[in-house]
Amino acid sequence: MSSQSDSKPVESETPATNSNNILYEIIYSPVNLILTLVIVVLIYKIIKSKFGKIIEEAPAPELPKIRKDMTVAELRKYDGSQEDGRVLVAVNGWIFDVTRGRRFYGPGGPYAAFGGKDASRGLATFSVTSSDKEYDDLSDLNSMEMESVKEWEAQFREKYDLVGKLLKPSEEPTNYSDEDLEDTDTSTSPDEKKAQ
Ligand code: HEM
Repeated sequence: MSSQSDSKPVESETPATNSNNILYEIIYSPVNLILTLVIVVLIYKIIKSKFGKIIEEAPAPELPKIRKDMTVAELRKYDGSQEDGRVLVAVNGWIFDVTRGRRFYGPGGPYAAFGGKDASRGLATFSVTSSDKEYDDLSDLNSMEMESVKEWEAQFREKYDLVGKLLKPSEEPTNYSDEDLEDTDTSTSPDEKKAQ
């Protein structure tokens, strides 16, 4: 009888004592504590990179399409700071609606300097800056830089909706409601063109 009652507490106490010891070692051993913190930080970073991306890539609100030629001054207000968050960027004389790329060109984005601006020169010279010129005719760019501007234009044409032309001073805007849409318009389907 006495030997049974002696052995029981030893059996039931051993695992508890062991886990207490492990916890004690983790908390009070500096190396283990640092390793635990590193693991926690890594897990946090993995979760943040996965879920943070989903949050960042949440679709931009669907805005009605616009077809309009604009001057540099008119373009300026579409830098994403307005209530609807629309962002327009001009490349090689064409204006694109880059609202779906708001995380690049909207306020705080890496290419915010291009939002509401003519980005041609910056793209050509690989510099995230835009000029304050009334109209930049790009005539001083060399052939390689002009080639680069055209490649960027092609990329924007593929990815974003075309809005219209960037107007030179004294140039008249096209009246798109006349259905006089140009061949270069790849943003709207024939049905949409009829509806305009
Ligand atoms: C170290 C320098 C740079 C790095 C690491 C970098 C990185 C990137 C990356 C990773 C993307 C693709 C983002 C995505 O599609 O998710 C991108 C896009 C882009 N980058 Fe850069 N970039 C750099 C410099 C520049 C410079 C100097 C310019 C301006 C001339 C520029 C203009 C752009 C543009 C216009 C896009 C396209 C955004 C869009 O899809 O609308 N980048 N960059």
